[in-house]
Amino acid sequence: MKCRKCKAVAAVALPSHNTAFCPDCYPVFVRSQVERAIHRHKMIAPGDRVLVAVSGGKDSLALTLLLHELGHDVHGLHVDLDIPNSSTDARAACEGFFAKLGLPLTVIELRREGLAIPLVKSRIKRPICSVCGKLKRYYFNKFALENDYPVLATGHNLDDEVSRLFANTIRWDHAYLSDQGPLLPAESGFARKIKPMYRLTEFEIANFSFLRGIDHVIAGCPYSGKASFPIYKGLWSGLEERMPGAKVQFYENFLREGRPVFAAWSDQQGQLPTPCTECGYPTSAERCGVCRIKAMVADDEK
Ligand code: AMP
Ligand code: FES
Ligand code: ZN
Repeated sequence: MKCRKCKAVAAVALPSHNTAFCPDCYPVFVRSQVERAIHRHKMIAPGDRVLVAVSGGKDSLALTLLLHELGHDVHGLHVDLDIPNSSTDARAACEGFFAKLGLPLTVIELRREGLAIPLVKSRIKRPICSVCGKLKRYYFNKFALENDYPVLATGHNLDDEVSRLFANTIRWDHAYLSDQGPLLPAESGFARKIKPMYRLTEFEIANFSFLRGIDHVIAGCPYSGKASFPIYKGLWSGLEERMPGAKVQFYENFLREGRPVFAAWSDQQGQLPTPCTECGYPTSAERCGVCRIKAMVADDEK
């Protein structure tokens, strides 16, 4: 197979795009996908400082590199979860990568908030990965707003987005379907959220990371054994293999045809979040989920 751009021997075949690239042209293709996503959804305005949430995995580190190379003003944010045999490596990967690029990185330690994940896991009887996701999103948003970052970027890829959409569709969860997408505009109490990698699959980003020599952690969350997303991801890779392009079609068609319907439904409900009585960040209850988690962990300590 030959490279679509320069006709050299291809190294990466992309059946969903019906094409292939050599090692030099492939990163250019990846960058153009990210540039297109940013442009099409007006994710970043000129002069915006971009806060990138980095886990130490390939997706968020590749996103950092791409945004930096595209000329954006990038600041990293890592949340240290304090999970044994996992968090130290994740943090070191972020710190090493940002030091190499000469970019600023802030680390928030959940331990200092009284919310180290192993402690929260031992006190709260809900699936820990969803609690952990809530904590991370809360601290991303809080940090962005308190430090005047208008935009918060995460490394979610097409496989993440498709499996989430699939999970929401199986449950026909109107509320989640109304605001799933690569861009969530800023609202009171929320920074703008963007997912510039949403058009790239895990496979495509893995190839990019390899070719660009990105030093990232590979192991996923050690607590995620019972999560349903890996099952959906498996189903979708089988489908994609037999029907190249199925993932991107499912997702893009949802954005065009499905999401506006659910968003209109959500507007009709007119349920606006109100400030949490404790921390002031938006919530649909009196006290936000994170303040409730904090109280539960502290109660148990007494
Ligand atoms: P995940 O939910 O683990 O698939 O992660 C999705 C995205 O959330 C990643 O690409 C990162 O942008 C961000 N993220 C996940 N974990 C962390 C973390 N501990 N610190 C900062 N950002 C994170
Ligand atoms: Fe954080 Fe599983 S505990 S993702
Ligand atoms: Zn609160």
